[in-house]
Amino acid sequence: MAKKKKAAVRTADEAGHDETPVAELGEAVAAAELARLAEEIARHDARYYLDDAPEISDADYDRLRARNSEIEKQFPALVRSDSPSERVGVTPGSAFGKVAHSVPMLSLGNAFDEADVADFLSSIRRFLGLEAEAPVAVVSEPKIDGLSISLRYQDGELVQAATRGDGREGEDVTANVRTIAAIPNSLTLGDGDPTTIDVRGEIFMERSAFRALNERLGADGGKTFANPRNAAAGSLRQKDPTVTAARPLSFFAYTWGEIERLPAETQFTMIARFGTWGLPTNPLTRVHESVESLIAAYWEIERTRPELDYDIDGVVYKVDRLDWQERLGFRSRAPRWAIAHKFPAEQATTRLLDIDIQVGRTGALTPVAKLEPVTVGGVVVSNATLHNEDEIARKDIRIGDTVTVQRAGDVIPQIVEVLLDKRPTKAEPFVYPLVCPACGSDAVRTRDPKTGREDVVRRCTGGLVCPAQAVERLKHFVSRDAFDIEGLGAKQIATFYADGRVTRPADIFTLEKRNARSSSPLEAEDGWGATSIANLFAAIDARRTIELPRFVYALGIRHVGTSTATLLARHYGSWGALAEALDAAADRDAAAWAHLVDIDGIGEAAADAIVEFYAESHNRRAVEDLLSEVTVDAYEAPATVTSSVTGKTVVFTGTLEQLSRSEAKAQAERLGAKVSGSVSKKTDIVVAGPGAGSKLKKAEELGLQVLSEEDWLALIG
Ligand code: IVH
Repeated sequence: MAKKKKAAVRTADEAGHDETPVAELGEAVAAAELARLAEEIARHDARYYLDDAPEISDADYDRLRARNSEIEKQFPALVRSDSPSERVGVTPGSAFGKVAHSVPMLSLGNAFDEADVADFLSSIRRFLGLEAEAPVAVVSEPKIDGLSISLRYQDGELVQAATRGDGREGEDVTANVRTIAAIPNSLTLGDGDPTTIDVRGEIFMERSAFRALNERLGADGGKTFANPRNAAAGSLRQKDPTVTAARPLSFFAYTWGEIERLPAETQFTMIARFGTWGLPTNPLTRVHESVESLIAAYWEIERTRPELDYDIDGVVYKVDRLDWQERLGFRSRAPRWAIAHKFPAEQATTRLLDIDIQVGRTGALTPVAKLEPVTVGGVVVSNATLHNEDEIARKDIRIGDTVTVQRAGDVIPQIVEVLLDKRPTKAEPFVYPLVCPACGSDAVRTRDPKTGREDVVRRCTGGLVCPAQAVERLKHFVSRDAFDIEGLGAKQIATFYADGRVTRPADIFTLEKRNARSSSPLEAEDGWGATSIANLFAAIDARRTIELPRFVYALGIRHVGTSTATLLARHYGSWGALAEALDAAADRDAAAWAHLVDIDGIGEAAADAIVEFYAESHNRRAVEDLLSEVTVDAYEAPATVTSSVTGKTVVFTGTLEQLSRSEAKAQAERLGAKVSGSVSKKTDIVVAGPGAGSKLKKAEELGLQVLSEEDWLALIG
């Protein structure tokens, strides 16, 4: 938010503004100044909210606004329709309202080669319980490199448009989307078509339109966009819809979210139906009956790639039958019924200027290549990952080398190889540091006690004394999927840590109280305007109540990403219950440990890391201090189905005949049940097929409800 400026106080005059006392302004001069202020404030808003790169301090920004208000007060008749005072209260990062997606907007799994595509098809057959060679029709279509959007049509009228956001919640961009000519404001529906539907697809900018736009922006002295995707994103996220209207955006519809009734039985016919409604759909969409045909389509699309007027980064395959899509459902982040077959990565050659060693929140030392900036597939790359020290040694990467860099999609660019014939004669092998560059503690590679293998990652042993780890933990704590505190980003955290204001998570929530008593309050710091401080404290307060998955993720435990955090939340329901289970699980022989590692999707490494985290007294103290400032909401399952098995713990054992094990499990979970691999007192239902052994026996001993597969299917209807 606030950028530190060197000059302690810059007057508006120095910043280039006319400071004639308002009382002395003539009407014409006042009108001209209001026009200039409107334009100037809008520009700073864009730098701040959209580019995340403010040019002036918050104090200077506040001064511009104050001046604007003062003139408006004196000349009420001159208030402009685009007056910045109409937009007061737009808080950082929330220029748009939020929209909850009733059906989450997910991402796609990736296939990188033909074997992955074959695996995709066989896992579908397995899941559906089909024969190994059973025909499965699959649709292929280009993967558009744009931004996904969800368009809600009610009775054929566009009523809401939302970006994907984090998949659960996006931004309301309805006003902007209404201006996009490629997106119909009303659909031509026929009999039997759904009255409510979320049409989903990709907004993008054609390459030719992108070049023309950049030329225009460049000629006006404005900032140009690096690639069509950024141009599309920047154009959509405009606060002023008239700006979006002037941008040449395109759209392809390719799937849907909530839908009142399905007017088709296959993906292909559904997309054709989109077409009859007036929605643009991709003309390269085809249906295939075999892997060979799918792969042929992939190479055909890759061959035509340079001729297309839009960027694509692969081919998406989707199971054609919609009843199968429904049965296949979703894994945590992606559907089982679709996959993206990515194109080979793009490469370029550049020079390695330096190797930076960064320290992560768990102490991992990560080498980062600093490159002479180079364009790889339309994106300027100046950093690349070097993975770890073994990788540097294996590829014998030296500072000064000329290297091939590769970039595939959103993946961090990598160094593929060194061009040895271009190596400068004095280039020395890289010496990897054995101490942490941030705190000087030893940096070590541990051995796995079980396998005896050395960890590839060298870690700082400084723990709590290492400032880099502390800052990274705090950054993680406020990051988007964690506490997501508006206006408190990586930059502010680093500053607050450096001046001692925030050294642990709980400090964030006592910042306001301490600031009021402080001898050096933020108000006295340059760059912090009164408005920005008030906004920051309000944003912090807004997060005093937090959802359980976010809370768990925010703790920054190794191996615990958002989906593990959500799984834990779903299984334990509340922080209290989770903490109690972690305590009990410290004893690896306890039932609590078995239960934890039994959760589908939680591996032993994650389970270990969580239990160990909570067994450390300083972590526990940090959590307790935090809990005296924030309230963690109990987990609420996303408002979906309630069924006869919601909340029940189910164990499947023996052979299932009608469903595959994974389908049975997925189906039970979809109905709100928890599926466990072992039988205990907490089990509610055991579904036993032929060949069930010890689990069935235990269930009988415990007097649990035991169902046959048929009983189970009847129960869930
Ligand atoms: S289908 C349930 N089809 O790729 C997910 N996605 O990597 C359905 N994308 O978020 C997505 N072209 O933004 C689908 N033809 C296409 C696509 C496509 C581009 C994007 C989409 C998605 C991302 C996942």
